[in-house]
Amino acid sequence: MKFNLRNLIEKKPWMGWVLFLGTTAIVFVLGILASSIFQRRTEATLLNVPLYELNEFEPRNEMWGKAYPREYETYQRMADTSYTSKYNGSAFRDALGEDPRLVILFAGYSFSREYNQPRGHIYAINDIHNILRTGAPDEDTPDMQTASCWTCKSPDVPRVINDIGAEKFFKTPWSGMLSEIVNPIGCANCHNAEDMTLKVKQVPLIEAFERQGKDIMLSTLNERRSLACAQCHVEYYFKGEGKYVTFPWDNGMSLEAVEEYYDTYEFSDWIHQLSKTPIIKAQHPDYELFTTGVHYARGVSCADCHMPYVREGSQKVTDHQVQSPLNNIENSCMVCHRESKEELIANVYDRQDKVYQQKILLEDLLVTAHIETAYAIELGATNEQLIPIHKYLRAAQWRWDYVAASHGGSFHSPVECLRIVSSGIEKTSHARIEIARLLANLDYNKAVEMPDLSTKAKAQEYIGLDMIKLQSDKDEWLEKKLPNWLAIAKERESKMPEPKRIK
Ligand code: HEC
Ligand code: HEC
Ligand code: HEC
Ligand code: HEC
Repeated sequence: MKFNLRNLIEKKPWMGWVLFLGTTAIVFVLGILASSIFQRRTEATLLNVPLYELNEFEPRNEMWGKAYPREYETYQRMADTSYTSKYNGSAFRDALGEDPRLVILFAGYSFSREYNQPRGHIYAINDIHNILRTGAPDEDTPDMQTASCWTCKSPDVPRVINDIGAEKFFKTPWSGMLSEIVNPIGCANCHNAEDMTLKVKQVPLIEAFERQGKDIMLSTLNERRSLACAQCHVEYYFKGEGKYVTFPWDNGMSLEAVEEYYDTYEFSDWIHQLSKTPIIKAQHPDYELFTTGVHYARGVSCADCHMPYVREGSQKVTDHQVQSPLNNIENSCMVCHRESKEELIANVYDRQDKVYQQKILLEDLLVTAHIETAYAIELGATNEQLIPIHKYLRAAQWRWDYVAASHGGSFHSPVECLRIVSSGIEKTSHARIEIARLLANLDYNKAVEMPDLSTKAKAQEYIGLDMIKLQSDKDEWLEKKLPNWLAIAKERESKMPEPKRIK
């Protein structure tokens, strides 16, 4: 028998109702779906249209936040300092307290006073105010630093440099900018105000590319997702009397290429208090080390792990809570990796543990070598006799600090970190052979006695720091001087125009 709808409905009338109601239901559901898709599309279009006209150099993050509330909301989560991983995290961590050897390695330099692990970007201004390395400058006390120190701390920096020029900015004493630089690292450091694309604003980075004959503005979007970070997470130095912030990449970005650059200029950040070695202080070569690792080789960018996309309804939003990816493995790693959260964390710790273990070996050797050299100087060693020792100690300390100061390096590029640390161990052993020969020449052939360096306080006392005075000067400055600068800044900002609403 041929199928006939009319016959069927005549035989079973209820079937007609089923068909009628079924069709109505389907049409209804389709309608809802279409309307929802349409609504989401409009939402998406609306969200990408800026509601406010922002100025390229608008330093106030909350003003950008008006236009982009979702990103701003994730940005503000950086205030949370509760997360600690094995070696990093967003909590306050006293690096000298955790490892007092650093006090000896930095003897004669302000890092021996106070050195803390990095926290979220939102703390950059508070932390530079509070740290003992900036001292307590006022009418009677000269500055310890120039404005160069502000370079990586704030979107006020591109604004002021645009106003007065880089040269003048870097030369200004640090305290000369206390009323100008008040907003922590934020939107204007990374974004083009017109369309929110990524834009490099850091003058020293743009210039480092220029000197290599490259135009950074021609970089691809994926490159910019790492170059945005290379504005600050790199090795740099304060060049010449003008303290002009300069990236030492003219010969290349490897440890050896940068060392050669510094050696050519006979540059040193300070003379080591104990061994009298001219030392290069490594900053935080996160970008340089990262480019030697496997993730960089596979085209993964800093933002992939530290600023992953998160879903918010129909929207893909970039998570602006820049932090340890271990606090957010699902979005940071599991987008690409199938392994469990536990296994991924274990992978990270395994690499970090191995680098840390070798790094501590190098530190112990270096501390010993600085103290042994100081003893040789006490026994009357001449500058001439110290030349080969200084050469090895400078190279060894550069290798140690390069790895130690790059807080993510032992994960970003574990093999390169281990190569560098082991080469540092080799340089230190050469130094110690020279020291042993020198001591023998000076009629001393016993082990040099080592002081008790088991705590930060003992190490600081050994190098003669009066920590109580330094801290009380700072506390007084924070209480009595700083508020005046901040009041001037508030007054200045109150006169700045609010962004104009355009929709
Ligand atoms: C350290 C650099 C950095 C800072 C600071 C920063 N952003 Fe972003 N932002 C990014 C990156 C990276 C992306 C992703 C860009 C891409 O892949 O196209 C992004 C994307 C965006 C987008 C595009 C939509 C999206 O979510 O992907 C908006 C809007 C945005 N940011 C707003 C802000 C605001 C508002 C602030 C300040 C509160 C801010 N950003 C601070 C790096 C930064
Ligand atoms: C304008 C300079 C600047 C830029 C641009 C910048 N950083 Fe930072 N970053 C800093 C400084 C300074 C700190 C330390 C702040 C503190 O401890 O007060 C920091 C801290 C961090 C931390 C430690 C956070 C924590 O919770 O421990 C991470 C991770 C980080 N940055 C990653 C990035 C990544 C990834 C990018 C690019 C998307 C980037 N940064 C761009 C200057 C910058
Ligand atoms: C955008 C994709 C992507 C993201 C995000 C990503 N990875 Fe990877 N990862 C890769 C690729 C690709 C490789 C290289 C593997 C290969 O090519 O066989 C790799 C390699 C690795 C390796 C082995 C490399 C080594 O050092 O021996 C580890 C471990 C690893 N990833 C851990 C992580 C962790 C932890 C995170 C999150 C913090 C993460 N990855 C985020 C793509 C990614
Ligand atoms: C494949 C994922 C991945 C990429 C890509 C990546 N990182 Fe990391 N980063 C990590 C992990 C994992 C850690 C270790 C976190 C920990 O120990 O808590 C880390 C640590 C850090 C830290 C120290 C964090 C802290 O809490 O103090 C900084 C700073 C950092 N990375 C910056 C960068 C920069 C800059 C880039 C690009 C040049 C980059 N990272 C690329 C995964 C990544």
